[in-house]
Amino acid sequence: MQALRQFYQSRYYKRSLYGVIGLGVIGAILVVSTKLKKQQSKQQSLNQFQSNEQSLQGTIFNKLDKCSLSNLDQVKTLNTSIQLEIDFIQQILTGRVILKMKAIQSVNKIQLDAKMLSIKVVKVNDQETQFHVKESVVKELGDQLEIFTEKQANEEFQVEIIYSTLQNVHNEQVAQNWLQPPQTFGNKHPFLFTQSEAIYARSLYPCQDSPSIKSTFDIELIVPAPLKAFGSGLLVKETLSQDKNIFQFKQPVAIPSYLFAICAGDLEKKKISERTFVISEPNLINKCANEFSDMEKYLSTIEEYLTPYKWNEYTVIVLPKAFPYGGMENPNLTFLSPSLVVGDKSETAVLIHEMIHSWSGNSMTCQNWECFWLNEGITTFIENKMVGKIFGKDQQTLHGLLGDNSLQKSINNFGADHTYTTLSPKIDQQNPDDCFSVIPYQKGCQFLRFLEGQIGEQKFQEFIRLIVSQDTLNSEQFRVLLEKFLLENNIQGVDIQWQQWIIDPGMPQEKLKIEEQFSKKYEKLANDLYENQMQLEDFQNLHSNEKCFILDLIGNMKIDQRILQNLEEEYQLFDSNNPEILHRILIYGIKCNYPGALGDKLSHFLSANGRMKFITPVYRALSEKNPEIGLRIFNMCRNSYHSIAAAQIQRMLGI
Ligand code: BES
Ligand code: ZN
Repeated sequence: MQALRQFYQSRYYKRSLYGVIGLGVIGAILVVSTKLKKQQSKQQSLNQFQSNEQSLQGTIFNKLDKCSLSNLDQVKTLNTSIQLEIDFIQQILTGRVILKMKAIQSVNKIQLDAKMLSIKVVKVNDQETQFHVKESVVKELGDQLEIFTEKQANEEFQVEIIYSTLQNVHNEQVAQNWLQPPQTFGNKHPFLFTQSEAIYARSLYPCQDSPSIKSTFDIELIVPAPLKAFGSGLLVKETLSQDKNIFQFKQPVAIPSYLFAICAGDLEKKKISERTFVISEPNLINKCANEFSDMEKYLSTIEEYLTPYKWNEYTVIVLPKAFPYGGMENPNLTFLSPSLVVGDKSETAVLIHEMIHSWSGNSMTCQNWECFWLNEGITTFIENKMVGKIFGKDQQTLHGLLGDNSLQKSINNFGADHTYTTLSPKIDQQNPDDCFSVIPYQKGCQFLRFLEGQIGEQKFQEFIRLIVSQDTLNSEQFRVLLEKFLLENNIQGVDIQWQQWIIDPGMPQEKLKIEEQFSKKYEKLANDLYENQMQLEDFQNLHSNEKCFILDLIGNMKIDQRILQNLEEEYQLFDSNNPEILHRILIYGIKCNYPGALGDKLSHFLSANGRMKFITPVYRALSEKNPEIGLRIFNMCRNSYHSIAAAQIQRMLGI
């Protein structure tokens, strides 16, 4: 409680609350930057060697993952034991991590990924050991912590690192997002959440930050009372006191670093079924529990198609609006965007998607970020099937078509010969975020549907079960498993078209098949809406996926100010509480300079949402049509976005 009181009295809190500018801010910046300089120079003095580009050559790149600076083909982590104190006043994490490791071959050093960390002490098997932090030549990949110790092949040992994270004064891209009370739903307490995927776990603790390395976890989190903290594991112990609360979690299944996550704030947990739970800020908990009340049904439907759920409990946490994704599949603690809580369960496919990752992604994991489609394409394929089983065939078709629309848009945006439109993009010493798009999701999903069409639903289910029973997988290994499966099951005449689907850029040749009646029905509805011929009530009765699909169809027609005025006045589309709908109509409005899309509704939308799926295309439309407005709103909102989202929008706005 005392620490929290201190926080309320701190200049960080007051500054945000009262918007004090001028001298106060300049003073604060000076203090923070001197502090940072001190931390950095301390770190530098610990460095034994000057880093230079040449000394990095030949030492940094392992063969498995070009986004990690760890020598992960020489040593591997078996268990990670992490203890962190969450300091809302300084906005830092302090603590220690113990990595239980094993040498694959004899080595004379251990290299770990690190970003924006201040390393204090390193011990190997309890002996203080020399280390040095090579500041990165590849800025995007962060630093490399080198620990000088000799180990024989197969030797097991433990590395303890005492460290803290650095204050993020320059808005670097890091996992942690610190929120001030006004950025939460409760408006009273600060909040912290992290986003490790793809390569940000290294900004939380020194690690082998690659999906090819899996370790079990013990997590201990210390927060000021009365706040609560959660980690991506099962709760084993909580110790509450007046001053501090301590929470301990265990993740007994070996997971990659990108699935490590923590969050802390004023939080409440509610049981949905024996093994499913929802967490959110207290004033949202009932809404969230209603929206996700069918979790158990979703989970058991997925189990029927795949295999029994092996992670014991399934918990979702609904985060504040700054969360940059729809969902993130952190094990035992799926993170969800509050934009899914729309009141009619129409956005629950995202939750189903994250649940499915418990098999495809969290059990079977892509070996590196160049074969990311194995995580997302397989999950999207199963998601589409589950939508069919849970919500019916029509919803499944619609869901698939909406996905296909987003794929076409994305390929058009990149250009059909762009390397990011392939399922095997080259990601060499680069942040995987640079090439993130719907392509691995939708093209990957369509590839699997193409295969299923030839192999048959039942046999393909067997193949998918085989795939999700693997540990880590790359595209080539996937192909070998597929060919072996076909051979062993005596399935002949299957044309895999590997080159076209997996290697080549551009739109798949094989088109999604749609029943004529289905497309006719929606074309008519789109025409009716366009011509202002639809009754308001009929429109309101449509499922939001239907509305989105109709809006996508209208997007192919000629849209002018008159049409937009109808959509605003007759159908109240600019007042939709569903961002899937609202972001579509705002983009149409921006594209034809419709005043209703450029005023308060636009700035409210961009400040009330941090989910990149919605805000990025809106900023893109603004940067093409009205860059000054884009810039003005971005400058106003950037502090409420996660650093990953802010960086993406900045790149797009060209600033
Ligand atoms: N694992 C992803 C989110 C992610 C991917 C974060 C890559 C960072 C890097 C998550 O499972 C996901 O796909 N979320 C989607 C939802 C989905 C239904 C398409 C999202 O956030 O929109
Ligand atoms: Zn996903």
